Amino acid sequence: MKLILLGPPGAGKGTQAQRLQDRYGLRQLSTGDMLRAAVASGSELGLTAKGIMERGELVPDGLIVGLIEDRIGQADCASGFILDGFPRTVAQAEALDRMLGSRGWKLDKVVEMDVDEAALTARIVGRFSCGKCGTGYHDVFKKAAKAGLCDVCGGSEFTRRKDDNAETVTARMAAYRSQTAPLLPYYAARGVLAKVDGMAAMDDVYRQIESVLGKS
Ligand code: AP5
Repeated sequence: MKLILLGPPGAGKGTQAQRLQDRYGLRQLSTGDMLRAAVASGSELGLTAKGIMERGELVPDGLIVGLIEDRIGQADCASGFILDGFPRTVAQAEALDRMLGSRGWKLDKVVEMDVDEAALTARIVGRFSCGKCGTGYHDVFKKAAKAGLCDVCGGSEFTRRKDDNAETVTARMAAYRSQTAPLLPYYAARGVLAKVDGMAAMDDVYRQIESVLGKS
């Protein structure tokens, strides 16, 4: 299965992708995570992306498309993947169509996570993740069962993203509205778009996505 989770920053794409990858045996491909790893490694890509991400703008299409093209060609993607954060522009969506077409693959579903933008800043500024295994948490909405210890790996170091502050969130939302939202009619026209209520509780959002995938 080839799946896209589409929605603004904080919509819950990463949260749901982590859960879906185990249930469906799919690989989560988060371009945000790939870029953050590049920044941490100090690679050429990371050096280019760092300032752009901290301003809340989009990294140039050519860099991102190359990243995804390399990634989906790897063996662990052969049984399917969930794209989390890609595509984000019509040019990226067109490049994805070409990549899939050249391999004889098709996109099964694009799940739009419909959310109230006003609620997203609270979600984003409260987010943190385990520094060891990457499991995501939230100060209010998803606390660890035992404070200070990761539920999954028992790690005790947690990190917060540099772009998770109110100013950058405003720029990220603006980028979503102007450059990514046009993908909704793009995929609706191809008959693959399905909408879920991203404001529901996490378990409920997950059940809605399962129901959409059950029909595909
Ligand atoms: P990226 O890392 O993709 O960030 P984003 O799209 O801004 O999305 P987020 O990770 O902020 O949100 P999410 O929807 O995954 O929400 P989450 O599940 O964590 O991109 C970062 C930057 O990289 C971009 O700004 C850009 O510069 C660059 N970039 C990346 N891809 C690119 C591309 N393709 N092209 C160009 N540039 C690119 O949830 C958020 C919080 O809310 C969590 O704490 C969670 O616990 C909580 N939560 C989740 N669901 C619920 C719920 N239902 N109820 C209550 N709380 C919830």
